[in-house]
Formats: sequence, structure tokens, C-alpha cells
Amino acid sequence: MAVDLGGTNFRVCSIQLHGNTTFSLTQSKVAIPRELMVAKTSKELFSFLAKQIEIFLKTHHEDHYFSHIKRRQTQGEVKEEEVFNLGFTFSFPVHQVGINKGLLMRWTKGFDIADAVGKDVCALLQAEIDALHLPVRVAALVNDTVGTLMARSYTSPGKTGTLLGAIFGTGTNGAYVEKLDKVTKLTNNKDAGDYDKSTGEMIVNTEWGSFDNSLRTLPNTPYDIELDAKSVNPGIQMFEKRISGMFLGEILRLALVSLLKDPSFPLFRDENSAQNDIHSTTQIHEGSGLWKQWGIDTSLLSICAGDSSPGYRMTRQTLDKDYGISAVSSEDAEAVREIAAAIGKRAARLAAVAIAAIVIETGRLDTSSSGTATTEKKAGVEPPRGNVDSVGKGDVPEEDVIDIGVDGSLVEFYPGFEDHVREALRDVEEIGEAGEKRIRIGIAKDGSGVGAALIALVAGRVALEAE
Ligand code: BG6
Ligand code: GLC
Repeated sequence: MAVDLGGTNFRVCSIQLHGNTTFSLTQSKVAIPRELMVAKTSKELFSFLAKQIEIFLKTHHEDHYFSHIKRRQTQGEVKEEEVFNLGFTFSFPVHQVGINKGLLMRWTKGFDIADAVGKDVCALLQAEIDALHLPVRVAALVNDTVGTLMARSYTSPGKTGTLLGAIFGTGTNGAYVEKLDKVTKLTNNKDAGDYDKSTGEMIVNTEWGSFDNSLRTLPNTPYDIELDAKSVNPGIQMFEKRISGMFLGEILRLALVSLLKDPSFPLFRDENSAQNDIHSTTQIHEGSGLWKQWGIDTSLLSICAGDSSPGYRMTRQTLDKDYGISAVSSEDAEAVREIAAAIGKRAARLAAVAIAAIVIETGRLDTSSSGTATTEKKAGVEPPRGNVDSVGKGDVPEEDVIDIGVDGSLVEFYPGFEDHVREALRDVEEIGEAGEKRIRIGIAKDGSGVGAALIALVAGRVALEAE
């Protein structure tokens, strides 16, 4: 089994792995109630999660659930094989100290429950599962990026393996496969304790959402500054605040509000009206999301980006129906679209920076079946072409493919997100056109659940062997 606490939804799933890169998935999904994201105590959130697991078991594994309850009541015992090993995808930064033990470092994505910080989130969940007497053991703790990496590796086992699992959704982050000797935090630390050295590799969860919090290189606009200042975690997740779905709608809102306050800019004003009054033609409803923090959803950016209807009818309809901004002219709709497009493009290009950094840092570009190093390729030596289906447009031999698994609402629903990412990858000097072609990006939809279940399966077996 796996449960998945992302930024917006909580998923419970059970997975049957068929062992041949395919699997069957049964899953339920529920939006996380806003009040639980900022609850007074972590118990409120975790008991809600356990309750969802109970509902899932009763609905989808009825026989299993009730025979377990019956045995517990009549014989007072629980059979080992009756207990589901659960992979817990917990998509927040943790200090992971064991396969099923991790202390929450800080909340991100708008969550804010003070008493959970520093606690073992697996123990918090297990306590609530036990309170409901469910036959479930939290066997593994997994970040969504790690789960995505695992799932992609399972379903797409190319010759070179998957390098990176990345999320571009409510939040953004990436986990990649690193050579152990480069993880100097462990290898140079005598007190690092025991860790598995057998493969010579380790998965590193970068938590790149918090890169460059000091804004040494990140672009910074008045809208970024205002968004950050009014967020629950000012100064944190500065990279994420420019890239991911939770924030893009709010950047657009702040930009539009600022234009509305600018008398020299005619947005939503009737230029022919004597007073040049905001409400002379276009009506902005008092309750419009435009006036409320987080009032504009990132889906508006996706609608704008995908709108090729005459006079931007879809954009105007959405502004009217969902945001109470009626009778918008096509010129104004075009202005909204342009601003939205700039925000989306900036996000995708910054996302490409993170991908490029991993690809370059791991040295994956330096080797290719042609034996040519990247620098030579830049000088014009194209990599050899094979017959392999590659998302990176050109056909690249399988051994040269750099495989990346991605998931999240932004990459899934924002039209052209990947195209912008690829364009930016080509602009990175060390990557160029030849390098970009080698990068294969594949959606690992709902992958982190599958990945977490895979890890839980292995962790459960290891635990049994150890007993
Ligand atoms: C889901 C994964 O498909 O995507 C989650 O299963 C992940 O683990 C999520 O957190 C990210 O997307 P979003 O848009 O829900 O944040
Ligand atoms: C946030 C979390 C991170 C997660 C990402 C994507 O950045 O801190 O752990 O992977 O969102 O969900």
C-alpha cells in the first residue's frame, strides 16, 4: 500500500506489481481540507489521514479488512501476512534517519502546524493507524520526488537507468542518483552511522525549492517580493515560489492588481469613458478572487496559455465565470494572457535550470556511445542517431539517453511547459542542442504512490528477514 500526502491532495492506493514493468493500481483521492493544513495540532491532520486509510480498506479490501478485525476480536492476534506494508509519501523536507523514520524539518506549500516540526512523521501516522486498529505498518518514508524516480525506473528501465525524478506541481523538487563518494556529508563524516554502500550510489533529495533563498541569482520582481512577504514562510522556498503551481496564480494576481492601480495603464478600463473609470465597462465583482490573496488559481495561466479561440473567448469566459470580471475586451484578455505567459515561461525556464544542474553535475553528458565529450559535440559533432523513441525530438541511441521522470499538475496541465523547458536547456551552454536531445522526459503519472509501494515492499521484506 501507499499513501501520498502532497501539497493539495491525499491519495491512498494499493498496488499490485506484475514484475514486468507493469502494475495495477487502485486509488482514492481526497483534497486536503485547508483547515487541516494549518491545524493547531498535528494529531488533527494525521487522524484524518488514518481515517482515509480505514475508508479505503473498507471499500477496496473489504474481505481482508473484516477478516483481520474478526481474527483480532476472536483470537486476539494479528497474522504477519495480514499486515499491509505501507509506503508513506510525505512531500516535505525531513531529516530521514531510517527507512521508516524521518523528522520534519519545516513545512512548505502553505502547511503550517508548529507541533509537528522535529517529530517523526511515520510515528505520528502509525499512532493514528493503531488507534483505529488497522492492519497497516508504515514501512517506508519517501519523498514524492524519490517515489517518482523509483516509479519511472520501474516502468521505463532504459539501459542507463533513470537519473532524476522531479515534481512540478503545487511545489517543485527533484531527487537524483548520485555516486556515493560524492556524498561527502556521509563519506567524510566518521559519525555518519551505518548506511548501505553496496551499490556505490545513493538517491539524493535535493529540496531544490529552497535553492538560492538569499536571491543571489534568482530574478526578483515587486510581485515576488510581495508574495513572499505575505506567505507563511518568508525567505524560504524562494526558487519554488517562482516556479510551482501554488504560487504562479498569485504572482499573476499581484501583477494585475498593480496594473489596476496604475493610472497610466488602461487595463480593464474603457478608454472612451470620460473618467477612464475601472468600472465604466468591465465590472470587477467585489467578491472577485482578484482582490483576495491566493484568489487566482494557476489553472487560469494554463487556460490563457491554451487559448487560441477568436478574441480569447475562453480567457474572457473564465475571467467572468470564475473570477467575477465581466465584459472584458479582447485587448484586455490579450494583456492578461501576455502577463500570464511571461510568468509561465519564467517558471519553466527556471525549472530547466534545476534539471540542467543535475545533468551537468552528475557528468552524464560527458559520456556517450560516440565517445565524444560534450565540448566536442558543442563544436558541431552530433551524437549518432539510432532508432529509439526519445521525447527529446532527435533519435538517440538508448545508451546515450538521460532519462528523467516528472509528475505534478504544472507539467501535466500547463500547455507548452516542456517545450519552454527544452528551449531553455538548449540555451544552457554546457548542454546545447546535442545535450538536450539526449534528455528524455517522461510523465510518471501518480508515480510516487507506485514508487513508495515498491520501497515499502522491499523494506517489509528486509524487516522480516531481520526478525
Ligand atoms: C502526484 C504524486 O501525482 O503529483 C504526488 O502522486 C505529488 O506524490 C503530486 O506530490 C504533485 O503534483 P501536485 O500538483 O498534486 O502538487
Ligand atoms: C516542496 C517540498 C518537497 C516536495 C515538493 C514537491 O518543495 O518541500 O519535499 O518534494 O514540494 O511536492
